[in-house]
Amino acid sequence: MNRMKLSLFIPKTEIEVYLERLAYEINRDFKDRPLVVIGVLKGSFVFMADLIRRLNMPVELDFVGLASYGKNTQSCGKVHLTRPLNRDIAEKDILVIEDIVDSGLTVSYLLKYLKKRRTNSVKLCALLSKPSRRVCPVEIDYLGCEVEDKFLVGYGLDWAECYRQLPEIFALEEKPDADKP
Ligand code: PRP
Ligand code: MN
Ligand code: MG
Repeated sequence: MNRMKLSLFIPKTEIEVYLERLAYEINRDFKDRPLVVIGVLKGSFVFMADLIRRLNMPVELDFVGLASYGKNTQSCGKVHLTRPLNRDIAEKDILVIEDIVDSGLTVSYLLKYLKKRRTNSVKLCALLSKPSRRVCPVEIDYLGCEVEDKFLVGYGLDWAECYRQLPEIFALEEKPDADKP
């Protein structure tokens, strides 16, 4: 693939500041109440791994897979559940973990899906949010930071499945036109 030019956008030290604050807020709000933490594959897995190690309450983990189509267009694309939740979450307190909320489509779909399941509560934690791109309004209960509309990779975020392993968040210098490298 063609190598894209990357510029450092959120360094490790800043990510750690967000992690500490988010964990503090979640620990404060839930105290010792057990929590079911649900990560949205694949992007959230690095952030989720770092965040859960800062949580003090009993935590159960699960994952859902979601794929959205048409997210790079202005239209509201469709979201498909590629990996459903294989557990009963009735009466549980749920914390959904996302790396980034962009159009809001993915997380709106997931929150609707979860709220049908007689949970006690559903909260959303996202490391990043791009409010300028929002199509579906979303309330983010725990947010790391708002970012401008740049194409970001690293720390779980990908471009065509690449760059997820980078330990910090980088901006692609040119917004890629194509979906594939
Ligand atoms: C990315 C990101 C969020 C979603 C946000 O996932 O991880 O889940 O897009 O975009 P939205 O708010 O416009 O829906 P993606 O669909 O790229 O899958 P991935 O997590 O496997 O990279
Ligand atoms: Mn994702
Ligand atoms: Mg992606």
